[in-house]
Amino acid sequence: MALMMRLLKHPLFLSVLAIAVVYVVFAYLIWPPLPKSLLIQYMVIVVAGVLLVATFDNKTAGDFARPITILLGHPGFGVLRAVTLVVVMGGAAAITYSFVKPSVTAPLELRTVHPAPPSTLRVYGNSYDLLTLQNPVRAEFPEGSDEYTEAVSQGGELYFTNCVFCHGDRLDGKGLFGEAFSPRPANFQDVGTIAQLQESYLFWRITTGGPGLPREGTPWASAMPVWHEMLQEDEVWKIITFLYDYTGHVPRSWKLEQPTPEAEAPQSADTATLDEAAVDAIYLKRCSACHGIDGDGEGVAAEFFYPVPRDFTLALYKYKTTDADSEFPTDEDFRRTIRDGLTGTGMPGWKSILSDAEIDALIYKIKQFGEWEEDDIDYTPIDMGTKPEVTPALLAQGREQFVKACVQCHGEAGRGNITSGKRLKDDLQNRIWPRNLTRPETWRWTTTVDEVYQRLSTGIPGTPMPEHSTTMSAQDRWAIASYVMTLRDTATPLSVGETVIDAIRIDGDLPDSADDAAWDAAPAMTFAMSPNIIKEPRLYFSLNDMVTVRALYNDTDIAFRVDVDDRTYSVPGDELEIRYALEDGEATRDAVAIQLPTALSGSSEKPAFRHGDARNAVSMWYWAAPSVEPAGGELAMLLDASGPDVAPVPRSDSGDLAAKGVWADGQWQVVFTRPRVTQSPADIAFDEGTYVPIAFANWDGLAGDKGGRHSFTPWYWVRLDPVENPTRLYGVPALAAFLIGLLFLMAVRGQRKRHSA
Ligand code: HEC
Ligand code: HEC
Ligand code: HEC
Repeated sequence: MALMMRLLKHPLFLSVLAIAVVYVVFAYLIWPPLPKSLLIQYMVIVVAGVLLVATFDNKTAGDFARPITILLGHPGFGVLRAVTLVVVMGGAAAITYSFVKPSVTAPLELRTVHPAPPSTLRVYGNSYDLLTLQNPVRAEFPEGSDEYTEAVSQGGELYFTNCVFCHGDRLDGKGLFGEAFSPRPANFQDVGTIAQLQESYLFWRITTGGPGLPREGTPWASAMPVWHEMLQEDEVWKIITFLYDYTGHVPRSWKLEQPTPEAEAPQSADTATLDEAAVDAIYLKRCSACHGIDGDGEGVAAEFFYPVPRDFTLALYKYKTTDADSEFPTDEDFRRTIRDGLTGTGMPGWKSILSDAEIDALIYKIKQFGEWEEDDIDYTPIDMGTKPEVTPALLAQGREQFVKACVQCHGEAGRGNITSGKRLKDDLQNRIWPRNLTRPETWRWTTTVDEVYQRLSTGIPGTPMPEHSTTMSAQDRWAIASYVMTLRDTATPLSVGETVIDAIRIDGDLPDSADDAAWDAAPAMTFAMSPNIIKEPRLYFSLNDMVTVRALYNDTDIAFRVDVDDRTYSVPGDELEIRYALEDGEATRDAVAIQLPTALSGSSEKPAFRHGDARNAVSMWYWAAPSVEPAGGELAMLLDASGPDVAPVPRSDSGDLAAKGVWADGQWQVVFTRPRVTQSPADIAFDEGTYVPIAFANWDGLAGDKGGRHSFTPWYWVRLDPVENPTRLYGVPALAAFLIGLLFLMAVRGQRKRHSA
């Protein structure tokens, strides 16, 4: 016990304890975490300080050092000494290794979600005091009055035609293109957003968008549009009123005596409390913006969605588990559609907002729209036959049948590039494109092999996707379904949470063609693209929704291969282009571009992701497909840009850039090559080990994409993977261990002499 107390009071023990406590606080408890370099600096200061105190005079210094000198020199401690030597050497090697080992974690980016607003806001030619600014709708009309209700409904229409693509139908930030952005669009249902903000704060954020944020809000990364350019002042207030009305949140006010009301939980009800009026109200609130108040598919948002929202009065449904002769889906099929939504379309899943009873009530309502005669409806399930085991023979049979029955629409490689020469249309005479079977992320309803079997057996009613139950044996259908599942492995899936493209070093020349085997060495990354729904000229839809990237480099050059699944070969005037061109509108050339900053900021700050900004410019590598009519070759062009309001300027000399594209089986593969270092100050240098921000863009010629009408990604990173040098990787830690060991032994020698003297 006494020994224990002595140990606890010993200056050496106290010093080690103090250092350990400070380390834990600095390294684990402080939020946001300190960068490693700062942590090391702080710890050096702390250790120096502790040593200074512990060795303040000769006596304390002696006390402090005594256990160490005994360990080093006392004849009775030989074994402990040897163990300590091993531990010290091992520790030195491990710490050194942790510094020299290659690491691929993306640079840390911190963001203040709700930075302080400016005190005055200048928009619409006025200046507003945000401390006193009131929502005129709320100030003028009491909640529940006709004028208030009218304003909410107009606000809803504006929301569903402007904001829904990002913030989602349920206002939860999960809009159709939400996942293409980082940071993700705000979730208004969450109590952490509008529920704790003043309406004047929202007015600031909505009118000035991402670019209006102060630095700590990372304005360069936010996709939030600048709405004062596209909406009137009163429209913004109506949308704000709608946001609170829809979510049931109450805006925060400056009057502190008023307690913040509890956020209302999403209403859910059991069947007993759902009368017809209640169901009508749910339909009106949740579904009518797209499916129309009368269920005719003519909601205000309908024209902005492709595919268009279903017209319930026609009672024609795409996704069902009933056989080809049964006209209707079962209630269970409906439940699934409404609960989980149809991936890749405007139709969201509602299970987070609507109770099962509410969904069942809506199904009843949908049937009323279609005037179903419930009694004489036939719901025969699809005959599933016997599911065979998956063997190479079955897959070969599947491929053979796939070529016969599916390739004409879904393409040789399954990318949805129709080869039959037909311009497919759905029953409403809208152009329709077969699904890209290599991209399960875009499949609407189907996920498993059983469901592929169901889909191809019963077809997709209302679309050209035919049923195959009368023309094909169950065995062949299972073979195809199994083969179709293997197509998923032929594409790189969307990267979830990963943001770094590793560029791999190779010896000798970089490949100048896309089919070179050298590309296999480069890890591929796939990112979601969003059409430009941010700024006029807005684009609401794009068939090309993902981009896959690989990078290689050598001593002098860097090359990127950018793949975009594109069903149509838009080389204006080419036979293939003419065959599939849309009837209205003019086709442009397919094009792909890479965007890079002109310099690294040294911090997490980047140029604004849409073409940079006045302080941080960007350069772009632009490739465009050739053209037959008007005649022109493919383009490789460097452009410079410094903001979304000024058109990018082509360089007079683009000689540094080479770009070559090939289209085959519904995919463009474009190879860009540039020297790692150029003479131009507008070109970033690619040094080994540094993280360079990079973004991608695509123009689909079929849709006439041109200029600002295109799809893009936000910023990601590319990093030139340094070749691991084994001498450095293992030699440096070994050397450190050796040196420490040597020092230790020298100290032992000194102390041994003293102890034996
Ligand atoms: C292109 C996608 C996009 C569209 C369209 C869009 N937003 Fe946003 N919005 C975002 C993103 C991303 C954020 C989060 C980053 C930020 O705060 O700037 C955001 C944030 C916000 C915030 C801040 C919430 C908070 O807690 O601070 C508000 C308010 C907002 N959006 C309202 C709207 C309204 C209203 C519309 C339609 C008029 C709209 N947004 C349209 C992407 C979008
Ligand atoms: C933002 C727009 C939007 C909203 C809001 C919306 N839908 Fe849809 N819905 C769509 C679109 C688009 C489709 C068609 C997708 C397709 O054809 O692949 C669709 C299709 C459907 C279908 C047809 C499924 C099939 O197999 O053919 C049903 C049923 C449906 N929606 C029910 C609802 C219900 C119920 C609500 C309200 C709770 C709702 N939708 C809200 C956009 C929307
Ligand atoms: C005449 C053209 C045509 C043929 C032949 C055809 N499909 Fe399709 N297929 C389509 C279209 C069009 C769609 C998209 C429908 C839509 O988006 O509403 C589609 C969609 C699909 C889907 C997507 C389902 C989902 O949930 O997203 C699968 C799976 C599919 N087809 C498989 C097949 C298979 C397997 C074959 C061969 C047995 C085949 N198709 C033959 C035109 C065709």
